[in-house]
Amino acid sequence: EAIEKGGYDHFMLKEIFEQPRSVADCLRGRVNADSGHLVLGGLRDYTEKLSKAKRIVIVACGTSWHAGLVAEYIFEELARINVEVEYASEFRYRNPIIKEGDFVIAISQSGETADTLAAIELAKSKGATILGVCNVVGASIPRASHAGAYTHAGPEIGVASTKAFTAQVTVLTQMAIAVASKKGTLHEDTFRRLLFELERIPSKIEKVLKSDEKIREIAEKFKDARNFIYLGRGYNFPVALEGALKLKEISYIHAEGYPAAEMKHGPIALIDAEMPVVFIATKDSSYEKVVSNIQEVKARKGIVIAIVTEGDKLIPTMADYTIEIPAMHEALIPLVSVIPLQLLSYYIAVMRGCNVDQPRNLAKSVTVE
Ligand code: G6P
Repeated sequence: EAIEKGGYDHFMLKEIFEQPRSVADCLRGRVNADSGHLVLGGLRDYTEKLSKAKRIVIVACGTSWHAGLVAEYIFEELARINVEVEYASEFRYRNPIIKEGDFVIAISQSGETADTLAAIELAKSKGATILGVCNVVGASIPRASHAGAYTHAGPEIGVASTKAFTAQVTVLTQMAIAVASKKGTLHEDTFRRLLFELERIPSKIEKVLKSDEKIREIAEKFKDARNFIYLGRGYNFPVALEGALKLKEISYIHAEGYPAAEMKHGPIALIDAEMPVVFIATKDSSYEKVVSNIQEVKARKGIVIAIVTEGDKLIPTMADYTIEIPAMHEALIPLVSVIPLQLLSYYIAVMRGCNVDQPRNLAKSVTVE
């Protein structure tokens, strides 16, 4: 097992550090910015059909559901297609409205999650076309789908999903860009820029992984916290949910992810001088709004840990701790802004003596409902 961990203390840490490579693997042969090439082989025949879709329904569970939420923002923004993201377990039991010609994207690392599989069968029986985004080749979900794209992240052993998430988001982003380009909702310059920036994501992740030591020091300060709040807006809202999920899964600290503005409708009541609040506060179209949300937290003496864009001069003057990530097109930010949150949860869990790779009560793949 020590050999399988490749010198890392845990599979989760190894998998976090594999992300520059797993994202690169997920882009290989699919994207070439120089020639303006973007093709997901398994979806070749579906890109045009998807570009005509009125609606896409995404079904998934857990971290894969968070990847689906990121996809909702990207598909709607770039391809102007209405997207609904459903928990597979809710979708399958509520007589959902699915019509012939609807597209369902099922996202699953294992390809075996019982609820997601059942949601697919239900949607299929109502005439939907199913596209699978899975990691495990030949698993039940890809077999039950009409077509799909693999995430090529390699085996993920740690129960808390890390590299599978970034690979899912990478595939879904490529799908959205390809569909938007076919549909004509994406300007050629933006198309080229997105491909160019996608190719640079692995090296940006690599750079963030170098903040490892700094993140460990922050973890040391908060390892005994009892609660955490994670806030983000726009593309970083699903990242806030994912950051909170990672922390609760492996460290057993109660954590909530919220859209930053929604904080006023509840979580703000929890803020006092003991409450760590993680803001994903990158330079994007929500930046100014997030800055005011940080002020609101500081006014109530909350402790702010902010993920910011390199070179940001303002937020570091307000936040208690900052972690920088490189600048990039805002649709691609989740691929990189999630990395420090994975590391933060990992170190906190290790410092609390938790079984990081096999947290209590959780299974890698939930094959019963
Ligand atoms: C379990 C795992 C999570 C995963 C979820 C969905 O809860 O512990 O890491 O996100 O199932 O699994 P899937 O294989 O369908 O992505």
